[in-house]
Amino acid sequence: MGIDIQLLQKLSDGNFCSGEALAQQLGVSRTTVWKEVARLEEQYGVRIQSVRGRGYRLSQAVELLDKASILANISQSIHSELSGIEILPVVDSTNRYLLAASSQGAKSGLVILAEQQTAGKGRQGRQWVSPFGCNIYCSLLWRSELAMTALSGMGIVVAVAVEKALSRYCTDLQIKWPNDILHNGQKLAGILLEMQGEAHGPASLVIGIGVNVSMPSHYGQAIDQAWTDLVQASGKLVSRNELSGVLIEQLISSLRVFEEQGLKGFVHEWKLKDMLLDKSVEMNLGSHQYRGIARGIDKQGALQLEINGELKSFMAGDASIRKCMRNE
Ligand code: BTN
Repeated sequence: MGIDIQLLQKLSDGNFCSGEALAQQLGVSRTTVWKEVARLEEQYGVRIQSVRGRGYRLSQAVELLDKASILANISQSIHSELSGIEILPVVDSTNRYLLAASSQGAKSGLVILAEQQTAGKGRQGRQWVSPFGCNIYCSLLWRSELAMTALSGMGIVVAVAVEKALSRYCTDLQIKWPNDILHNGQKLAGILLEMQGEAHGPASLVIGIGVNVSMPSHYGQAIDQAWTDLVQASGKLVSRNELSGVLIEQLISSLRVFEEQGLKGFVHEWKLKDMLLDKSVEMNLGSHQYRGIARGIDKQGALQLEINGELKSFMAGDASIRKCMRNE
């Protein structure tokens, strides 16, 4: 672990710590501590107060991700499906990192979590705003014997799993097809699935989950849609370590059920949380736009729109609820 992260750990409780004590504990000079403090501010965007005679402290305490605390929230039966949990202080994108690891032969069940992403990826080429130490950025590698074609409903499975995990913290969550999690119409979490493999052979899937836990409002200004975070939505403090464990547990147990029983049970659960159901929806496919009334998902997880009295299924696209137009 680098000096920078060790230093952050020492300061993470938000209390003052003298330069001398820090230097001693880390086995470096006071000048190195001073330089590392400046680097922390620049690299991770954290604010560190420096007061003569008292030392340094983080302006805001931070609960850093910690493997043992995460594992403590995962049951024994799920441990066996995990091939490892890696925590990175900073990465461009946990999905990109895991796709590269997958090509190098990483085992199924590997989880990557990061404190910060410098190029977090959202759906449809959007960026995912990923500041240091305040949210969850998590990716899981899942290798499946099921062919890619059979995995088409995986986005539904993951969305239902993430909704279930987050519902331990707050009520009134909804899912917007294909896999956004919203609270009162504001985005709380997003999912990005990336697949590798031949259409009819076994597939490798990188499942990326981003949850806004405690997003500083100045970072939130860069988000191009209505958003919220779990602290606001639940009105409670949320432990990122506990939440990471809860998410991993729910995700892996749902993937197991899907591999054994298919999508059926998830389609039923989806219906209870479907934000678009019976709403007037616009489906954007880039080159084409369709308008219709959303009628839920089909057996494969495709969104069904009723257009001129007929049902049309969509496997991909960007769906939004239409504002009521005059003269309609
Ligand atoms: C969306 O647009 O709703 C999907 C957002 C997915 C964000 C997560 S954060 C962890 C993982 N790594 C990424 O680069 N993206 C996903």
